[in-house]
Amino acid sequence: MTSPTKKIKPLVAGNWKMNGTGADLREVRRLHTHLSKMKYGCDVAVCAPATLVHRLAAMKFGAKIMTGGQDCHAAEKGAHTGDVSAEMLKDAGAKWVIVGHSERRADVKRGGHGETSKIVREKMLAAQKAELRSIVCVGELLSERKAGDTLKVVGAQLRQSLPDTCSAADIVIAYEPVWAIGSGLTPSVEQISAVHAHIRKALVRRFGTPGGAMRILYGGSVKPSNASELMMIKDVNGALVGGASLKAQDFAGIIAAYQR
Ligand code: 13P
Repeated sequence: MTSPTKKIKPLVAGNWKMNGTGADLREVRRLHTHLSKMKYGCDVAVCAPATLVHRLAAMKFGAKIMTGGQDCHAAEKGAHTGDVSAEMLKDAGAKWVIVGHSERRADVKRGGHGETSKIVREKMLAAQKAELRSIVCVGELLSERKAGDTLKVVGAQLRQSLPDTCSAADIVIAYEPVWAIGSGLTPSVEQISAVHAHIRKALVRRFGTPGGAMRILYGGSVKPSNASELMMIKDVNGALVGGASLKAQDFAGIIAAYQR
C-alpha cells in the first residue's frame, strides 16, 4: 500500500517577519522570474508584513506565488488597536495566514505576545471563517529539548491549537524548533524525522485519513545548502523559511529542492 503522504503536494512558504518595505517587493518579482525558468513540484507562498499584503497580492502572481499574512486577530472586528483580522487579510488578497509562530507565543519579555495554544486555536477558527488557510507553528524551546520533552511539548501544542474542524485543505502544520530559528542550527535528520512522524501519527489519530494528507513543514535555518537534505525526510512536506526567503535567489534555491 502506498503511504498517503506520497501524494501530498509540498508547500514552501516564506515568512518575512518584520522585514521589508515596498521596495523589497522587487525580490518577489525576481522570485517570479526565477520560478518561470524552473520546473518544480511544490506550492509557493510569501507571508508578508501586514503593510505589504495588499501590494504583494496586487502583483497578481496568483497560484504561482500565493500571498499570506503572518498573524490575525481571533475577532472579526472591534476595539483591538493595531491588530488585523482574518477578514481584513482576506480582503487585502491573502490566501494564507501564519498562526502561533513561536515569536508570538513567546512572552512579552522575549519580544513575543504570550499567545497560548487556546488563542492560536481561536485565530485558526477566525482564519477558517474568513476562508484563509492557516500555517500553524509548533516547536520546542532548547531547554525543553534538553529535558527530553520535545514530543510531549509539540504534541500538547498540536492538540490544543488545532480546532476539531481542520481539513487538509485549510491547514498546514509547521514544526519549528525555537532553537533552530535564525540561529543557523538545524536538528539532525533523525531528530526532525522523529518529530514529524510523531505529528503525522497524532494527526491521523485525531482526524483519520485526512490527517494523513495534511502538510507538515519544517522551519528553522532552512537554506539552499540544506534544503534538499531536509525536504527528503519522510513526512516533511515543505518548508517555512525566514531569513532565506528575503532574497529571491536564496528562496528559489530552496524551492529547487523540489525541482523535477
Ligand atoms: P529562519 O529560516 O530565519 O531560521 O526562520 C524560521 C522561521 O521562523 C520561519 O517562520
